[in-house]
Order: sequence, then structure tokens, then C-alpha cells
Amino acid sequence: MQTPVTTYLDDIYECCLDNRSGERADYIRELAEADPEPFAIALCTPDGTQYSAGDALREFTIQSISKPFAYALALRDRGFEAVNAAVDVEPSGDAFNEISLDEHTGRPENPMINIGALTTHALIGGPDASAAQRSALIVEGLSQFAGRELTVDEGACASELEDAWRNLALAALMRAAGKIEDDPDDVVLGYTRQCAVRVTVHDLSVMGMTLARGGVNPLTQERVVSPEIAQQVMAVMTSCGMYDAAGDWLSHVGIPAKSGVSGGILGALPGQVGIGTFSPRLDAFGNSVRGVQAFEQMSKDMGMHMMAIPAPTINAIGQHCRTADGSKLVALQGVLDFPTAEMALRRFAQIPPGSDDVIIDLTLVPSIAQAGAKMLLTGMRSLTAEGHGIVIVDPHQRLTAGEDQVTGLRRLDSRPRGALTAAEAPTG
Ligand code: DON
Repeated sequence: MQTPVTTYLDDIYECCLDNRSGERADYIRELAEADPEPFAIALCTPDGTQYSAGDALREFTIQSISKPFAYALALRDRGFEAVNAAVDVEPSGDAFNEISLDEHTGRPENPMINIGALTTHALIGGPDASAAQRSALIVEGLSQFAGRELTVDEGACASELEDAWRNLALAALMRAAGKIEDDPDDVVLGYTRQCAVRVTVHDLSVMGMTLARGGVNPLTQERVVSPEIAQQVMAVMTSCGMYDAAGDWLSHVGIPAKSGVSGGILGALPGQVGIGTFSPRLDAFGNSVRGVQAFEQMSKDMGMHMMAIPAPTINAIGQHCRTADGSKLVALQGVLDFPTAEMALRRFAQIPPGSDDVIIDLTLVPSIAQAGAKMLLTGMRSLTAEGHGIVIVDPHQRLTAGEDQVTGLRRLDSRPRGALTAAEAPTG
């Protein structure tokens, strides 16, 4: 049987295909002359499963969709403080090539508009990187996000450089403001090569999923950036990724996204899906018309909005009882995040001080979120402070860090023999 996801994507594709409104970008010769007809959609799931409809193997230049990834690489190379000192994260409400700097801080308003993207580009590779080294690092970094070796479309790069005066003016402005140290010509050359990296919608969906998985590529399992960087990048995509249309996009689509003038759109829905679309005709905001339509439809049909209310939390306490040897057993169930860990802490708080063991069974916990892990460790420390020994039953290794914070913690792969059921021996 073909999975219904494929049929669903085919339906979306058919539904958007006849929409021929919009115009190709006309300020870059190669894009103005590009075939306006191709259309493709691709999805990538957290386990790396890929789906597509349309012309999914066609390569196109990544253009501005490179900006969030260059921002991620700058954060990886230079750290949050240095990058933040150079580029702000405020939505500008301006066109992507606006000549603007924040009047108070002298910084570009965000890394998604050209002036900010030129600045983040110049930060990659550290202060001593040459233009060629930086360019190579960026192609390598984008390839890590895509999970395959990407290449530069030298023709597209040369075509954009024929008329890159505005970007040169932006880079010169940043040099004059002391925010970059490199020659503006080198920065524009490197940035234009960055924009000319070839991708397919499959690549975009994997790159999106890498962010949505907290920085781990779903195909190669390589950690490309930290969860903190992935979160920061998706936050800035949410507020600034779709330029002037960001507010409309947030209410109608609600997926952190970035568009490019060649007609691509990349979406990254945290923990759920990476999406790539390609169709060259653009709307007045510079976003692909069919791409916007496809994203709107998918978000509406599948509840893919980041503000969609999650399913109600199940009771995190699967079982609590006393075992045959007098220990307390608390068996947790479901994903351990803030609300479920809070339930667990409430249960721990009902255990009176004493020297008996508390056995915390994580067998039915499929994953532990960052907040859940912190809270669980805090709860275990409080129990040890009240005299208890702590034993965790963790056959699937869900608790992977921080156990050294709990004095005398012991691990088991299965419940100790003789544990009674709650019905037989309720806790006191
Ligand atoms: O700098 C430029 O003008 C292009 N290389 C990229 C612009 C772009 O993709 C704007 N996005 N929608």
C-alpha cells in the first residue's frame, strides 16, 4: 500500500499547480530568465522519512533560505554574545534589501534581511578566516544541514554579481559602522556564493527537519548545531523569515519558515516536520505564490500550526505502590515534559521522609524533555535530602545526563522482583 501521505501531497500539488499568479524575481538575470513552471513539495519526518510531489529532484539556488543557516553557523563559530553584538533579532517590516540600521544600536535589525545576512556571513569562520575559507566553510555547513554534499551554481553567482551594487552598498555601510572587518567586495562575493548554493526541495525539507530536531540531521544523525542554536534560528525565522508578510504567515501558517527569491520556501515545525517547496513566481512580498498556498493548505489540513494546542497530557503516574521489600515504587508514563514532570514532583512530595528506597520506573516513558529531566533530577535530590535512596528503572536509557547530581543513585534495567501492584499495596 502507498502511504496516504504521498496521496495527500499529490492532492496539495494538484490543487496549487494551476495558480500561475505572481512574477519571477527580475533583478537577477538568471532568475528573470528561469522557467516559471516547475513546482515541487517535499516533507521530511523526524526519523528521516521523505515524501515529495512534483519536480522534487530539480535543483535551484537557495538564495535567502541560506540566511538562517549562515546565522546558525555564525552562532556556532562565534557564540551568542558576539553574534548578538553585531546583529539584532527585531522584525524590520522592511523589504529584504532595505538600507537600514537600528538608530540606537547601529546594528542591522535581523539576520534575515540582506544587511544582517552580509554581517552574519562575515562572522563565520572566526576573525582570521579568508574569504575563500569562509565560502568553503559555508558550503560545508549547508551540506551538513542537508546531509549531502551541496555545490555552488557559479553561473547564478556570476549573474547576481553583475549587478550587486546594492549589496555592496550594504556591506560598505557595515564596514563604515565597524561591524565587519573584511573588504566589502569579499563579503559580497562570499555572500553571493552562499546564495548560489544549489538545493532541491528534498534538501530543504531535510535542512528544516535538522533545525526542527534541535540540530541533529535526520539522515546522517550528525549533530550540526546545538539545540539552543536551532531554537534561536527558528525563533528568528518565525518573526523575520517571511519579511513583510511575517504577521500574516504566523497567523495563517504558523510554521517557522524562510523564503528565497528563486522561489523556494523552507519550513521547520519543531519536533514534527521539515518542509520544502519550490515554484519561481513570487508575490508582492517576494514569497513564492504556490509555496505560500501549499504551506497554508498543509497547516490548515494537518494542524501544523506552532500554536496548535497539543493533545491533553495523560496522567504521568502510571502506578505507585510499595514493593515487597518496603521500597516505594513510582512508575511514570508518557513524555516527561513540564506538566508531566510537575505531576511526578507532586507525587514525590507526598512521600514522607524516611530511609527506604524510592524506585522510579521510566520503562513507559518514551522521551524526557529538557525541563522534564531537570525537574526529575531536582525531585530525586529532594528525596535523597529526606533520607531516601533512589533507584531508577531505565531500560531504554531515557535519563542520559545529570544522574551524578543524585547521591548514591542506582540504575536497574527492570523492576526489582516482588514489586506489588498498586491495587495490592497502595502507598501510605
Ligand atoms: O541578496 C540577494 O538579493 C539575493 N541573493 C537573495 C535575496 C532573497 O532571496 C530574498 N528573499 N526572499
